Amino acid sequence: MELDPKNAAGAERVVAQPMVAPLTRAAIFLVATLKPGVEARAAVRSLCADLSGILRAVEHRNREAGLSCVMGIGSEAWDRLFGAPRPAKLHPFREVRAGARHAVSTQGDVLFHIRAKHMDLCFELTAQIMERIGDFVAAVDEVHGFRYFDERDLVGFVDGTENPSGQAASDAVLIGEEDAAFAGGSYVMVQKYLHDMKGWNALPVEAQEKIIGRKKLSDIELDEAVKPTSSHSSLTTIEENGKEMKILRDNMPFGSVAQGEFGTYFIGYSRSPSTVEQMLENMFVGRPPGNYDRLLDFSRAVTGSLFFVPSATFLDDVSE
Ligand code: HEM
Repeated sequence: MELDPKNAAGAERVVAQPMVAPLTRAAIFLVATLKPGVEARAAVRSLCADLSGILRAVEHRNREAGLSCVMGIGSEAWDRLFGAPRPAKLHPFREVRAGARHAVSTQGDVLFHIRAKHMDLCFELTAQIMERIGDFVAAVDEVHGFRYFDERDLVGFVDGTENPSGQAASDAVLIGEEDAAFAGGSYVMVQKYLHDMKGWNALPVEAQEKIIGRKKLSDIELDEAVKPTSSHSSLTTIEENGKEMKILRDNMPFGSVAQGEFGTYFIGYSRSPSTVEQMLENMFVGRPPGNYDRLLDFSRAVTGSLFFVPSATFLDDVSE
């Protein structure tokens, strides 16, 4: 995605990473930590510069599949890899604790969000990336997500409906003049949730709809008169100075039937981490406090990390 140079820093045309990609049937979310030593720094820096070329090579094997990759860098890793200047709002994931609810913070120095119509391309690109840096990083989480019926999550609701699109999506995720040195970048939060499917399925559909704030079959938003203020859709609708603040999500179901694991991998891109953090606070603590998101009575966050997504131009320009 090329940015209007008016919005970008300096005279150079800045190209963003493909956060605003169409929903795909398959995705891999790979989170890794950097091993100590200067070699790890050199290996990851050299991957940054070569990532677009590696992607092109894998993409060429099936152009129809819409392969894309977004690379994110965690707060501590940023200092090790790139030093100053730092993206203005980059910090480690801030955990949230309230009652039995806990948005945990887990390790993560680099994130790869790899999407395509077919899993073979996602798998191949992940393998090629790890071929380059596998000796210098420890993969702490690798989740293979699949698109479930009608773009539903495993709790059975259509997920992604209220995502902004077109210019509104770019406005929601891309940093502009507020941090000109990092224009075209973004922030991304990931959390892996596991669902208590037995408990959830024991609820009548009407109760589930009140928790989400939308009709299950038709995906129509509940009327304000019946939609609880604790519904997921109410608590994640936030305003700043009278303007609704949007994020861009591409959640994916994942799981293992044999292990009884049914999950949603949450991924949210935003121009400022404070937007997604406010949503998280509303869900876990409640708005007002105590009026929390009942989805959390049936879903447990087992990971949580925040990353900065530099522009593709920044990655291409990294020297070894
Ligand atoms: C268990 C994990 C989660 C599940 C299963 C889930 C599911 C859903 C569903 C079904 C919707 C309604 C359809 C839509 O507009 O996409 C929705 C909306 C939304 N969710 Fe989530 N979500 C989860 C976690 C989160 C988290 C952690 C955040 C942010 C911190 C978040 C932010 C949002 C936002 C912003 C909307 C749109 C609200 C609106 O404008 O109406 N979700 N989610």
